[in-house]
Amino acid sequence: MEIQGNETAEALILNVALILGVTGLVGKALARTLAAKSGWKVYGVARRADELQIPGSNYQFISCDLLDPTQTTEKLSLLHDITHVYWITWATQFPLDTPECCEQNKTMMSNTLNAILPKAKSLKHVSLQTGAKHYISLTGPFNRNLVCYYEDSPRVTQGHNFYYTLEDLLIKRLEGKVTWSVQRPGLIFGSSNRTCFNFMGGLCVYASVCRYLNLPFLFRGSKECWEEIYIDGSDARLVAEQHIWASTTDKGQAFNCTNGPSFIWKEIWPKIAVKFRVEVTEDLFSPDLNFSDFMADKGSIWEEIVEKEGLFETKMEDLANWGFMDGLLRFKTKMLLSRDKANLLGFKSTYQTLDSILYWIDCMREERFIPQS
Ligand SMILES: *[C@@H]1O[C@H](CO)[C@@H](O)[C@H](O)[C@H]1NC(C)=O
Ligand SMILES: *[C@@H]1O[C@H](CO)[C@@H](O)[C@H](O)[C@H]1NC(C)=O
Ligand SMILES: *[C@@H]1O[C@H](CO)[C@@H](O)[C@H](O)[C@H]1NC(C)=O
Ligand SMILES: *[C@@H]1O[C@H](CO)[C@@H](O)[C@H](O)[C@H]1NC(C)=O
Repeated sequence: MEIQGNETAEALILNVALILGVTGLVGKALARTLAAKSGWKVYGVARRADELQIPGSNYQFISCDLLDPTQTTEKLSLLHDITHVYWITWATQFPLDTPECCEQNKTMMSNTLNAILPKAKSLKHVSLQTGAKHYISLTGPFNRNLVCYYEDSPRVTQGHNFYYTLEDLLIKRLEGKVTWSVQRPGLIFGSSNRTCFNFMGGLCVYASVCRYLNLPFLFRGSKECWEEIYIDGSDARLVAEQHIWASTTDKGQAFNCTNGPSFIWKEIWPKIAVKFRVEVTEDLFSPDLNFSDFMADKGSIWEEIVEKEGLFETKMEDLANWGFMDGLLRFKTKMLLSRDKANLLGFKSTYQTLDSILYWIDCMREERFIPQS
């Protein structure tokens, strides 16, 4: 029997997703996962055009600057068929935890909701992504103990956390008519050349440079971060799955969103070294020279590697953020999330963090962001 592919696909669309921030780590993974599901159509929004390699005709990219209210209304109010919204974006112009940062992020979300709420009459759910920083202040005080945070742990009163601003705005604007959920991942592993806090990008560039220069693959963080469990990993695929799970089965709740089993850098760093075929010395822990200082003069070496290996053209800074790497691997407090709540309500997917990292190294190789071997 002959089936008319396009017409069949059209007829079966039950859900229409709008992903704000589609070029980021989770945005890309979510767009790919949803576009591959039957019954879904996906609009992906980002400021700058991008060619996500998403097969099929049920994905459409929309370039839009959400800070510009006129443009946002023009482009997003046309999308009358949206059923699910995924908010995975933020503006990074101002430092974290400042009033300006809260204000600007609020403006972005406000512009977007103003454009879509009056027109998208079938909207069922908005899933907001924030993060583990929900539970701590970047300005301290810091707690060295193993503290596990719970979803209903009280908000932190120091600083200005824009996550709270977004949650409050969202809940207020939906007026109980559309359901919502919040996903709070830990350290996200994924592949993107458009992400400000991109751990995999930094790790891969650093390892490629070590290999190219025949230097040992040293861990340039603090002793505590090397030896102790102190942060949870969140595979971008897992975060995407949880967004879909929460937005299609649940309402009005926040969830932590982590791989599951904890990890220690000291245990997995040598295995990552093997994957990159970099020199593994007896002691890989070396706190003296941090990533920012070590990499400061390596920009031209990266460009040499890109040219020699025929990689997708990037500057080192497109993939790596050394201040973030240093901040992360010398973080003064533990950021461990309990995922009991999602588990209990039926979200069972888990990943091993080492596997996540190895998987995303392969993806970055496939996308030709880093050398094949
Ligand atoms: C990021 O990579 C994609 C291809 O995967 C490309 O289309 C885009 O132009 C790149 N962006 C930057 C800023 O390099
Ligand atoms: C919005 O929040 C992000 C996420 O931390 C932050 O980096 C950025 O500075 C904020 N953007 C604005 C425009 O305030
Ligand atoms: C997330 O984990 C933290 C730390 O264990 C916990 O305090 C918080 O309640 C959890 N949040 C949710 C929404 O489960
Ligand atoms: C890196 O180390 C140098 C020298 O100790 C220090 O001045 C700089 O602030 C550090 N950078 C980061 C991002 O930690």
